[in-house]
Amino acid sequence: MTIGPVDIPDFIELRDIANSVVKEVGEYVLKESKKPILQETKSSSTDYVTEVDKEAEALIVNLIKDIRPEDGFLGEEGTSRQGRSTVEWIIDPIDGTTNFIYDHSGFGPSIAAKVGGEIVAGAVADSSRGEIFDAAVNHGSRCNGERVSITESLKLETALVATGFSYESVDRVDQAKILLGIIPFIADIRRMGSAAIDLCSVAKGRVNAFFETGLNEWDFAAGMLIASEAGATVMNIDDFGGKNLTLAVNPSIENQFIDLLHAAAQNFN
Ligand code: IPD
Ligand code: CA
Ligand code: CA
Repeated sequence: MTIGPVDIPDFIELRDIANSVVKEVGEYVLKESKKPILQETKSSSTDYVTEVDKEAEALIVNLIKDIRPEDGFLGEEGTSRQGRSTVEWIIDPIDGTTNFIYDHSGFGPSIAAKVGGEIVAGAVADSSRGEIFDAAVNHGSRCNGERVSITESLKLETALVATGFSYESVDRVDQAKILLGIIPFIADIRRMGSAAIDLCSVAKGRVNAFFETGLNEWDFAAGMLIASEAGATVMNIDDFGGKNLTLAVNPSIENQFIDLLHAAAQNFN
């Protein structure tokens, strides 16, 4: 399908919609985190979902629909709607649900706009920190309206690296093998509990790289654009030892870090 000029949306406008929606829904989620939380599980006994995840997804869809009624949606908690415009919104209503349940910081909504198969705009709220990250393709990344960019270059041995683990115990074994392969060669590891916020942390220089296998599009769509627009090298490798790998890394250590990850994947079963 060819996209005519009238169908091409303004990416800044999409970013600003994502920003205002994650702000509003992020405040709602933060308020709910102070109340008793009832949870159920999904793919495994530790893959939690709460009423707030579902409410937040419904709220996001309704807020966007009010502004752009023709758009499509794909949401983690089940929203799937074919739109009549060129825009599809990819939604994680709370990334970091385990943090949300346990009253740790590091959770909030993540929303990205996809046009012609490419993520063109997005926003992520780190609700407990009161930070909103956003980006539009070719227009840079921001945190609370201020530009963020990766400027510092570094050596691999001083790199602080974020990662995450699957809810499936069998996948966690291979994820631990990657850790074993890389830990002797970097400064340290962080596991903070939200892939979307980890990617924003790469953009902000709070970590120098992030990688995780087995993520879903809603986990990384907005965060990858935010990291990329801040100057990080980002990629999804479809066949990384038989898994999909999401990666964002400071360009100064990119080649060495990717080689290290590939070497570590040789240890998969
Ligand atoms: C999870 C978080 C976590 C990552 C998991 C994700 P959720 O998303 O991003 O950091 O390690 O792989 O599934 O369940 O909190 O939306
Ligand atoms: Ca998620
Ligand atoms: Ca989620």
